[in-house]
Amino acid sequence: MKPIPAEVVENREECERTIVLRLRPERPIRWEPGQFLMLGISGVDEKPMAFSGGDDREFELTIEIVGPFTERCADLEPGDVVWVRGPYGKPFEVRGSRAVVVAGGTGVAPLVPLVERLRRARVHVTSVLGGPHADRLPRKDDLEKLSDELYVTTEDGSEGRKGFPTDVLEELVEKECPDVVYACGPEGMLVRVAEIAREHDVPCQVSVVRYVKCGEGICGSCALGKGLLVCRDGPVFWTEELEGTEFGGVRRDVTGKPE
Ligand SMILES: Cc1cc2nc3c(=O)[nH]c(=O)nc-3n(C[C@H](O)[C@H](O)[C@H](O)COP(=O)(O)OP(=O)(O)OC[C@H]3O[C@@H](n4cnc5c(N)ncnc54)[C@H](O)[C@@H]3O)c2cc1C
Ligand code: FES
Repeated sequence: MKPIPAEVVENREECERTIVLRLRPERPIRWEPGQFLMLGISGVDEKPMAFSGGDDREFELTIEIVGPFTERCADLEPGDVVWVRGPYGKPFEVRGSRAVVVAGGTGVAPLVPLVERLRRARVHVTSVLGGPHADRLPRKDDLEKLSDELYVTTEDGSEGRKGFPTDVLEELVEKECPDVVYACGPEGMLVRVAEIAREHDVPCQVSVVRYVKCGEGICGSCALGKGLLVCRDGPVFWTEELEGTEFGGVRRDVTGKPE
C-alpha cells in the first residue's frame, strides 16, 4: 500500500509525555477500532500507531513520547504534512451485551474508539484505566464520557485506586459477569488479563505489540510464532489464539533478536 499525505489538524498535549495528533488524510481511510496505520515523517521514519478516535476523514492518534520518532511527532504543528498508509490489521470484535475494557497507559489508544463503538451497539461498558501516576492517564476524560463506568488506578495512589488495572479487573469479572473483556497495554498486564479472563471463562481480546516494519505481512518482523504475524493476524487476538506463541515470553528487537 502506498503512503498518502495527511495534514496535521491539531497536536495537543494530552498528559505527561503523551500527545494526541489529529490528522486529515488526502482521501478518507475507512478504519475500525483496533486497526493501525503506518505514520511516516519525511526524512525521519515510519512507525505503527493505532487509530484512536475520529472518523474516516479526520482521525486521532494517541502517541506516547518514547524515542526519536515520537519526539518528532511532538514537534508537529497544524499545517504540517505527514504520510500515512493503512489501515492494517484486524479490529476488535463486538460481542455480547456487557464488556469490561482494560487500558494500561498508552494502551488506551485503540480502546477509546472501541468503547465508542460498543456503546453505539448498546453494550454496557465498564472501563479501567491504569498508569504510574495521576499525570500519566491518557484519554481519561474521553473514557469517562464514553463508558458507563470508569475505574482509575495509579501505581503511586495519586489518583483513583492504588495498584494496577488488573486488581480492579479481578473484582469486576465477579461483580459484572461480563460477556467479554478487551485489553491493550504492557504485555505483562495483558498476560494477567488473559489469566483472569480464562479463570472466569470469559472470552478476551488483547491488542499485542511486536516490532512492525512493513505492516503488510511481508517482512516477518512481527512474527509471534505458530505462523502468526501481529500486523496481519493481529494486532487484536482472542487469547486462545496466543497459546503456544511468543506472547508473554520472547520479545524481539528491530533485528529480530530476543530483547
Ligand atoms: C500495532 C501497533 C500499534 C501501536 N500503536 C501505538 C499507539 O497508538 N501509540 C503509541 O504511542 N505507540 C504505539 N505503538 C508503539 C509505537 O510504534 C512505538 O512506540 C514507536 O514506534 C517508538 O518509536 P521511537 O522512535 O519514538 O522510539 P524507539 O526508541 O525507536 O523505541 C521505543 C520503544 O518502541 C518500540 N518500537 C520502536 N519501533 C517500533 C516499531 N516499528 N514497532 C513496534 N514497536 C516499536 C521499541 O521496541 C521500544 O520498546 C504501536 C505499535 C504497534 C506494533
Ligand atoms: S511487520 Fe512485516 S510482516 Fe508484520
